[in-house]
Amino acid sequence: MTRASSGRARPVRIGASILAADFTNLGESVRAAERGGAEMVHIDVMDGRFVPPITMGPVIVEALRRVTVLPLDVHLMVVEPERHLEAFVRAGATSISFHLEACTHPHRALGHIRALGAQAGVALNPGTPPEACGWLDGLLDFVLVMSVNPGYSGQAFIPDVLPKIGRLRTLLGERPVWIGIDGGISLKTAGQAVAAGADVLMAASAIFRAPEGIEAATARLRTAADP
Ligand code: DX5
Ligand code: ZN
Repeated sequence: MTRASSGRARPVRIGASILAADFTNLGESVRAAERGGAEMVHIDVMDGRFVPPITMGPVIVEALRRVTVLPLDVHLMVVEPERHLEAFVRAGATSISFHLEACTHPHRALGHIRALGAQAGVALNPGTPPEACGWLDGLLDFVLVMSVNPGYSGQAFIPDVLPKIGRLRTLLGERPVWIGIDGGISLKTAGQAVAAGADVLMAASAIFRAPEGIEAATARLRTAADP
């Protein structure tokens, strides 16, 4: 879908979220997603405090930087995210989002991410209203709308978050801020997310656990998102 048909400035992009990947074969898995048409790699960083699991850190970003030229999007699900920004940018992150619910000084943190040379974003839990980040609009490169409760891949999509995307778009006006949606994206839900106005669809299990294989699954998701 392009501007002519939808009012959208650019085609919808797919972010391959590696949380559901086979970590014994991460490089080849990411390359397969890239061949299938993924435009970014999404890295879920969890600290066992903001969300129950502990996942990965800058060493994974560093390793990914060596196997793909795709943008590396780091999603920080950690308390005090401001303590880790520099390490992730140094490791090769292209963009970083942190949860508004986990950060005491989001204005400062966004400015810091930008000063480090990366794109800056906030992630919003399903229950957080879009208005919570409206005042930060001048510092935002993107907003990540969570369509599951953060913490795990393979959870069911929460359709009630969809109206938030339109409200965000209104709040952000003409600013070039992309809106990502993260959690429960599948062939079934991709169209709903795009219709609601999402610019980037992050998907883990729909890509890395698909029976038809990573490359084919990514390509099918692309088609579902951008027919
Ligand atoms: C959830 C993560 C998501 C997750 C998506 O906390 O932020 O990025 O990997 O997984 P799926 O696509 O399987 O719902
Ligand atoms: Zn994520």
